[in-house]
Amino acid sequence: MSDGRPIALFDSGVGGLSVWRAVRELLPQEALVYLGDTAHIPYGRRSHAEIESFAHEIVRFFVEELDAKAVVVACNTASAASLQSLRARYTVPIVGMEPAVKPAAERTRRRRVGVIATQATIQATVFARLVERFANGVEVWTQACPGLVEAVEEGRLEDAGTIALLREYLSPMLEAGIDELVLGCTHYPFLMPALRQVVGPDVDIIDPAPAVARQVGRVLDMYGLRAGPGSLENTRFFCTGDVHRFRQTAERLVGPIDEVRQLVW
Ligand code: DGL
Repeated sequence: MSDGRPIALFDSGVGGLSVWRAVRELLPQEALVYLGDTAHIPYGRRSHAEIESFAHEIVRFFVEELDAKAVVVACNTASAASLQSLRARYTVPIVGMEPAVKPAAERTRRRRVGVIATQATIQATVFARLVERFANGVEVWTQACPGLVEAVEEGRLEDAGTIALLREYLSPMLEAGIDELVLGCTHYPFLMPALRQVVGPDVDIIDPAPAVARQVGRVLDMYGLRAGPGSLENTRFFCTGDVHRFRQTAERLVGPIDEVRQLVW
């Protein structure tokens, strides 16, 4: 039996569109919802309690008002702060994100990996546990990167200021000899050309979006939630801040999107 209810994704802003893009590509027949909580961006500088309360409000909206069949927390920061309590409260399957330390530690030849993420993710207990569990003797360099989320939101993807910020954040780990760089924030894949320019050709950059999309597919199978093969669905977009601005930034990153509706809590 097919299930036409939507899969609902959220992030603080446009960053989660890197995950949305991968989900749409892998599961084109699924109806999707994307919400950017732009009234509260950036999450990365906020307390875990605050981020958790935003996440609960959003998932309540997804489940109670949109009848979502699955939720994707397309934000590392919100996942670190709220995944556990969201799963405790809701029965709907919830796919979250965590920096890809495990695959990086498995792949590195020099036994040195770098992780970049927001301040709130780097400081999270779940992140410390992840490193403890999966580093396996590999040296893990971590760096919080304030300013990068804003650069993506403002469409400054490759300008001199963004490149300078990346050089400042990445130089210590590059000098230490990392050969794997984990993008621990969903905004960062949109900086790929700038990142490549700064890290050079020899460092492998891990964008977790395709792996998250595959996980969404596995979850749909596990719960018998796949949409039928006949339906080719679009995405309904929402944001909590300025609709015009959200649409403009989103379209710069992923091309034309449908109408964006504003949500006021
Ligand atoms: N895109 C979010 C993440 O993956 C963070 C954005 C923010 O700081 O608001 O962590």
